[in-house]
Amino acid sequence: MYAASRELGRDVRCLIDFSASINPLGPSPRVWRVIAEARRLITHYPDPDCWELRQALAQYWQRQAEDIVVGNGSTELLDVLPRALKIRHLVIAHPTFSEYAASMARVGGRITPVYAKAREQYAQPIEHLCRLLERRRRNADPIDGVLLCNPNSPTGQACAVDDLLRLADVAQRRKVWLIIDEAFADYCPDRSLLPSAASWPHVVVLRSLTKFYALPGLRVGYAVAEPAAIEAFRRLMPPWSVNVMGQMAALAAMRDVAHVRKSLRFMARERERFGRVLAALPGCSVMPTSANYFFVELPPGCHARDITTQLRGEGLLIRDCSTVPGANSRSIRLAVRAQNDNDRLIRALSRWLRHQYREYQNS
Ligand SMILES: Cc1ncc(COP(=O)(O)O)c(C=O)c1O
Repeated sequence: MYAASRELGRDVRCLIDFSASINPLGPSPRVWRVIAEARRLITHYPDPDCWELRQALAQYWQRQAEDIVVGNGSTELLDVLPRALKIRHLVIAHPTFSEYAASMARVGGRITPVYAKAREQYAQPIEHLCRLLERRRRNADPIDGVLLCNPNSPTGQACAVDDLLRLADVAQRRKVWLIIDEAFADYCPDRSLLPSAASWPHVVVLRSLTKFYALPGLRVGYAVAEPAAIEAFRRLMPPWSVNVMGQMAALAAMRDVAHVRKSLRFMARERERFGRVLAALPGCSVMPTSANYFFVELPPGCHARDITTQLRGEGLLIRDCSTVPGANSRSIRLAVRAQNDNDRLIRALSRWLRHQYREYQNS
């Protein structure tokens, strides 16, 4: 947003951002109220233990507060993860969020990628992951962890809890950490491993309050795991990394059950409509999604970079996924926003596709 605003010489508020997938209804109205109240606390350091927020999260997930660590967005926890869990060799299911590999690269760790297949609409490669762990000889370059994003970004695919439990079982037998990034799982609670994670001491679940609760500018995320793992995260994190407004806003947002329900109802409706219209665009393949974005493959001959540049010039930001390992050069990710914004994007996409088609015929 900021880079595009500088480049285009336009105020950020004039851009429509389909590249970050944030709840289009915005934060709970209660968040605005607590932010106003938080003003009198900004002259104090924030609570480094995020005590109240951890208590509320513990109660919500029926865990102990010792099982939870709050970070400056889940990105901070991803950064600490390889050191906290002593992971030197991580298996990552691709195509996926680039920060997992970036975090391993910062500690000089090794990655084994496992790829979901386009012909299977990028269904999560659970069988492949299980086989890889089962077959691996323990002493030859041992695998310390498996990371799966569920629902996955950018593909939108989510696997069933039974599949996650099967993977958790194999990982436990092979003494490997299983890390599930559930940054977008608020949109598909029936696909979350978190409610059953307490029985698996080697499972770490990451959650973000950025997406569903629409607080990306405040940076709040958390990890849930057994207390020794959580303590290892905490020892490596700087103090006061979650500011006072972030802590108060997160608490207010998760307590506003009415806004949560309204957001889920809105997303179910608009995602269905937007998905239908996208799928009717000539030559585009739209993957099924459990999150608040669509992974779309443009028709053969098109390049994701070209449409991204074109739309950027029109003030519409989309995610070019052509360089994401495991995705092809025609892949883009589009957030589901409010109906007017989505319709505007559809019109721009449709114009561009018609233009491409004419160029193709004349060539
Ligand atoms: C899949 C996934 N996980 C985690 C994050 C990090 O989110 P945050 O640091 O805002 O909590 C992102 C951000 O884009 C993401 O897409």
